[in-house]
Amino acid sequence: MSEHPTNAPLVVVHPDKQGVSDAAGARLLLALLDTLCVRDDAHVVLTGGSLGSDMLASAGRSPLARLVDWSRVHLWWGDERYLPDGDPDRNETQNRAALLDHLPLDPAKIHGMAGPDRSESAEASAAAYATELRTHGGGLFDVVLLGMGPDGHVASLFPQHPAQLVSDAIAVAVHDSPKPPPDRVSLTFECLARSRQVWLLVAGADKAPAVCRALTPGAQRWDVPAAGVRGLDATLWLVDVEAASELPS
Ligand code: 6PG
Repeated sequence: MSEHPTNAPLVVVHPDKQGVSDAAGARLLLALLDTLCVRDDAHVVLTGGSLGSDMLASAGRSPLARLVDWSRVHLWWGDERYLPDGDPDRNETQNRAALLDHLPLDPAKIHGMAGPDRSESAEASAAAYATELRTHGGGLFDVVLLGMGPDGHVASLFPQHPAQLVSDAIAVAVHDSPKPPPDRVSLTFECLARSRQVWLLVAGADKAPAVCRALTPGAQRWDVPAAGVRGLDATLWLVDVEAASELPS
């Protein structure tokens, strides 16, 4: 039997985008319950994009949500658009509206990335986020959630973009992003990989070519960033039928 590392990508196909949201939301709640049985706090990295918020909304509708001790959950972001707090285009704003503002979370454990209202530059924001992570024990995450763009980007690590090359930092400033807004802050590959589990949430036919390229053996993260993130224990691709349509059967 060939060797199969436990963190090799596992693809779970759901019928449609709603199925991906519902399954990811349920998984997140169960992962939090499990984690909080064995550790004082849980650390989760959230994602932007429609699925990032849809899955939170799904989690909020679940009867399991009331079983989680939310006061022990730390929330981080994989990336943020460099915009002021409350801007409707911020990932944090969208995630808050979907669920976070309706949960009994400890405000001190909601670790948003600073925008121009709270930092001098995206570089300063990235440096401050690294300090925040070190201070609050976010050096090892329980779950990292990632959406993926049709170009294969994850967080704000875009194909062939120089921000990818920063490997000696926790977070990096991203300028000239190919997707607006041009200025962002992102965790680095090295930081994202310090997670027990990484879950990629992907739906839609426009993502199918990038899903296929990312899961092709030998895929390079420089070209397909989604290929470059694995969890220490598990890497799950939670996809719908359309996004999986170009994978070999
Ligand atoms: C951004 C978006 C982006 C998003 C993916 C997946 O930073 O511009 O947040 O990275 O997460 O494109 O989006 P969907 O979940 O909507 O497919």
